[in-house]
Amino acid sequence: MQDIYRMAFFLAALTSFPSVADAFWRLPCRGRSGVARLDPIVDPGEISSHVHAIHGGGNFGMSANFESLLESDCTSCGVMQDKSAYWTPALYFMHNDGTAEMVPQVGGMLAYYFNDKSPNDKVHAFPDGFRMLAGDPFQRNFTWPVPDPPKSEWSGAQVSQEALRQKAVGFNCLNYGTTAEGTLDRHFMPNKTYLDEHCTDGIRLELMFPQCWDGKNLDSDDHKSHVAYPSLVMEGDCPSGYEKRLVGLMYETIWNTYAFKDEDGYFALANGDPTGYGYHGDFMTGWESGVLQEAIDSCTNPDGNVQDCAVFDLQTQTKQQQCTFDMPTAIKTEDVLDFVGGLPGGMEIQWGPAYALMSMGSDSEPTTTSAIPSIPSLTIPSLSLSLGISADAGNLLGNAAVMATAESVTTASSSSSSSTSTSTSTPTPTPTTSVSIDPITEEIVYLQRKIEVLVDTQGVPYTTITGTPSPVSTAMTTTTETSTVTSYVKRDTVPEEQPEEQEEFVGHARRHLHHHHGRLHRKHGF
Ligand SMILES: *[C@@H]1O[C@H](CO)[C@@H](O)[C@H](O)[C@H]1NC(C)=O
Ligand SMILES: *[C@@H]1O[C@H](CO)[C@@H](O)[C@H](O)[C@H]1NC(C)=O
Repeated sequence: MQDIYRMAFFLAALTSFPSVADAFWRLPCRGRSGVARLDPIVDPGEISSHVHAIHGGGNFGMSANFESLLESDCTSCGVMQDKSAYWTPALYFMHNDGTAEMVPQVGGMLAYYFNDKSPNDKVHAFPDGFRMLAGDPFQRNFTWPVPDPPKSEWSGAQVSQEALRQKAVGFNCLNYGTTAEGTLDRHFMPNKTYLDEHCTDGIRLELMFPQCWDGKNLDSDDHKSHVAYPSLVMEGDCPSGYEKRLVGLMYETIWNTYAFKDEDGYFALANGDPTGYGYHGDFMTGWESGVLQEAIDSCTNPDGNVQDCAVFDLQTQTKQQQCTFDMPTAIKTEDVLDFVGGLPGGMEIQWGPAYALMSMGSDSEPTTTSAIPSIPSLTIPSLSLSLGISADAGNLLGNAAVMATAESVTTASSSSSSSTSTSTSTPTPTPTTSVSIDPITEEIVYLQRKIEVLVDTQGVPYTTITGTPSPVSTAMTTTTETSTVTSYVKRDTVPEEQPEEQEEFVGHARRHLHHHHGRLHRKHGF
């Protein structure tokens, strides 16, 4: 079965974009080095908000960088001189009972390297230390014509960076029995009905990275603005200020959505996106110095096979599949493949069309930004947001048998004079318990963490920085009446919003989010 998939995978890949690529190679990453809530670009040194499927250098981790990746002793990709890290959100099937089951990923990942997207420009390798992000995890709509008009007709707003960025995302319905769809033709996730009916071989998620570089910065605050798309997404002219052309990079991953045919539920990306508009990906170079440029200059064979490029030291598929990174202790036991109670990390499903705000309830508008009057263009204003969470106390603090949640509010204001500050009291949470028979002693651990929402110059949020949970206090309570935890939500500042829910607190915990409107958002899972 696997083999059939794999072969078909190659065939489909070969036929998918006859017109755009003249010279390229297809870097196979047959191994997935891990699947975890990690994102060393967006959340360095921390557990990240949502789950990624990760490929590449074995030294990947929450603090991975160019230097550490280079020292990897393995890679899950085919070229041994490449220890780069490649990652995208995982795809989940959301069961009706709330369980998030990761869709089986087929054949690992392919990273396409296009080395002659412009006959006039020299194509440059990624400089050492280079990293970037493509796509926007918060996007939930597409306001351009559907389907894309012919590229020859693109002009005006159609070639704005905003439009190009959205057109760099593709969802290719796979049915190897029929004509292949074009690469980057559809920019949203087909619904379950459509997938069941047409996409018998699953769905291929495609992501083209920007290839026009400012020639100076290895990264930028939003991890995007040091690069730009050429006028036709995969090819065309680079905008001014971004004239230095980098090798084109595109990711393809295949997810076997058909495995869920006729099951009730829907698909969603790990970042809480069932629409697909918020698909995105990260790249951190880990190419040994000089090798990539040599390949760009000499591997001009139009067939795309890495075997035809003498520069590369190749390794077998088995070797690729043996390379995995060390999972940080904090998430070692998190079962991201089959997660009870919603998406891992408590990612709320947000259907849009409004711009999503990560880690906030689906009913929350990004109106928190409207309080910001003006933002100096060179600072990163941080909007104060905070929340209290409960984490798995067993993971973080040893052996507490029962976990509890509390809401607490802290000030998170840090950098900008124009950021709005929120309420700052640190309430003492008041746990409540319900009745049962056995006496029980509980250790209640109150944790808090800071979430900063970064907004751009228009006041539009583009990313969140999620702090590490830290214990605020612990309390031992013995009760003779209860063993069932109903709710630990502090109520005195929070308007009633949702009914009490009863939930088992074993193996996961709940997160409560609070922002300065004083509203409460509940999360399941952690
Ligand atoms: C699913 O998508 C198809 C094609 O886009 C559309 O015709 C159909 O109405 C959608 N079905 C549901 C249930 O949304
Ligand atoms: C569509 O998304 C954009 C962000 O790209 C947002 O500004 C806009 O409000 C959204 N449109 C709707 C109708 O919500």
